[in-house]
Amino acid sequence: MSVKSVIRGVGAALPKRRVDNAELAAQVDTSDEWIVERTGIRSRYIAGEGETTGTLAADACRQALARAGIAAADIDLIVLATATPDQTFPSTATKVQAMLGIPDAIAFDVQAVCSGFLYALSVADSMLRGGNARRALVIGAETFSRILDWEDRATCVLFGDGAGAVVLEAEDGGERGILATRLHADGRHNEMLYVDGGPSTTGTVGKLRMKGREVFRHAVVNLHDVLGEVLEAADLSVADVDWVVPHQANARIIDATARKLGLSADRVVLTVDRHANTSAASVPLALEVAVQDGRIKPGDIVVLEAMGGGFTWGAAALRF
Ligand code: COA
Repeated sequence: MSVKSVIRGVGAALPKRRVDNAELAAQVDTSDEWIVERTGIRSRYIAGEGETTGTLAADACRQALARAGIAAADIDLIVLATATPDQTFPSTATKVQAMLGIPDAIAFDVQAVCSGFLYALSVADSMLRGGNARRALVIGAETFSRILDWEDRATCVLFGDGAGAVVLEAEDGGERGILATRLHADGRHNEMLYVDGGPSTTGTVGKLRMKGREVFRHAVVNLHDVLGEVLEAADLSVADVDWVVPHQANARIIDATARKLGLSADRVVLTVDRHANTSAASVPLALEVAVQDGRIKPGDIVVLEAMGGGFTWGAAALRF
């Protein structure tokens, strides 16, 4: 019988402090008008004291578990996607495990920057289908505010903090679940979007650097192509798709990708206006919004996609 990984619950967590464009414009040389026109972003959440990637991830997991009706102790796999871990090591996944009181599980972090949640989902799906685990927490969690150069207006206005999580359970012979995933990376483009520090080079954490225009150009092409691939792998056409939940980097990238694919905008979940780009957290955060407001329903065909530093990119098609 074929095993599929089914999403049983989705959870989210945002820092307490919401920062709108006007507040940012009081600190750096920018304007609400410029940010909205170029990106669609109106506000973001910024982690305060005591709020970390790990605490946000744990909060998102608690909500996902409660909605799934599954006890933390029944989780046997934790895959956490982040580029902003609490510490260089141990993994933030093991910190979340401890915070949730899970006595034994496989737990590790995945580093694929903004595509991290797609990578984590794909790895967890493979492990569930391979019989290594039955119930997984798959998490995207970030505190990008801590690696931003707050004097670089071209990047600091684009990002925010947050965490999203799903509970994934292996099910035998059902219709629902992940139908296909596709992942890619092209390391020749490292310098387009990177952090200028690290434990083995500078010994510092570093700050985010980006060539925005080049990233934009690659994003539309790569996302269009990987969406086509994942639909083909799942034996679906664009017309079968109920909802696309894209990485929330920029409303213009999302619009351009949807248009290139022939997807109408009313089937695309957009949360970049309220969350900004939360890197690995953005897809599960957007998924949570659309599930909670009743747009995404059990049985719907949902496609997730993301692209990020590396470059890395990927997509997943599932019956929710
Ligand atoms: N406020 C006001 N002006 C700003 C600004 C800001 N926050 N940031 C940059 N500018 C200025 C620039 O200095 C430049 O001025 P100049 O023409 O006098 O030199 C002008 O705006 C245009 O800059 P440019 O970088 O060419 O703008 P753009 O139209 O490419 O938009 C991005 C910039 C970053 C919004 C856009 O390139 C983008 O979204 N790229 C993708 C980024 C992304 O999604 N990254 C994450 C992927 S995971």
